Amino acid sequence: MDQLASDHDRGEALRIGDRAPEFTARSTTGDIRLSDFLGRWLVLFSHPADFTPVCTTEFVALAREADAFDQRDCALMALSVDSLFSHFAWLRMIRDRFDIEVRFPIVEDPTLVIGRAFGMVSPQANDSATVRTTFFIDPQGVIRAMTCYPANVGRSIPEMLRTLDALQAVDEDQALAPANWRPGDALLKPPTNMLDEVYSAKHETDWFLREETGARRK
Ligand code: BEZ
Repeated sequence: MDQLASDHDRGEALRIGDRAPEFTARSTTGDIRLSDFLGRWLVLFSHPADFTPVCTTEFVALAREADAFDQRDCALMALSVDSLFSHFAWLRMIRDRFDIEVRFPIVEDPTLVIGRAFGMVSPQANDSATVRTTFFIDPQGVIRAMTCYPANVGRSIPEMLRTLDALQAVDEDQALAPANWRPGDALLKPPTNMLDEVYSAKHETDWFLREETGARRK
């Protein structure tokens, strides 16, 4: 991997609202640069290691849902410390055993320079495996959500899609997504910051807890 252009290359954790650090790296689809993905949503996720049980189930499930991410104008990109040739061998095994081709890029990060820049591993980590970190990066390259799972629990692909749907819906409608929101459900209006609206609200919760009555997304 080439050098990072980042303030985060000392292993500091990134936060929501930070710009995703630029990198270039080798991947299963050729050399890639993060900034080439600007203009689309991107789900960048790390996995602890190739040829491991939970990771294999995640890759099979993600490959099967790849079209669903594409329909949301969202690219997928995986990353681990394993070599490019390990990635190739694993993808070949997945295709032969599960009859599905993983076509999204898997980056090799043998020195953990990317994993550390994104805070996927702690600076004190004494083994090289990244945890299951997922970054939802918007078309402007800004981190909008992230999740972190341990090595022994696999991610929910429906929840990844729901998070993406919610992020896109709140951007489109300038609204808020309530608990358990799903596409088609009502969004919420942002609370007012005008005292007059607080006093004039019909119901005591109406000034801070109101459904958005505009367009509903499918
Ligand atoms: C797994 O994907 O199954 C796994 C990876 C690293 C440690 C333990 C389990």
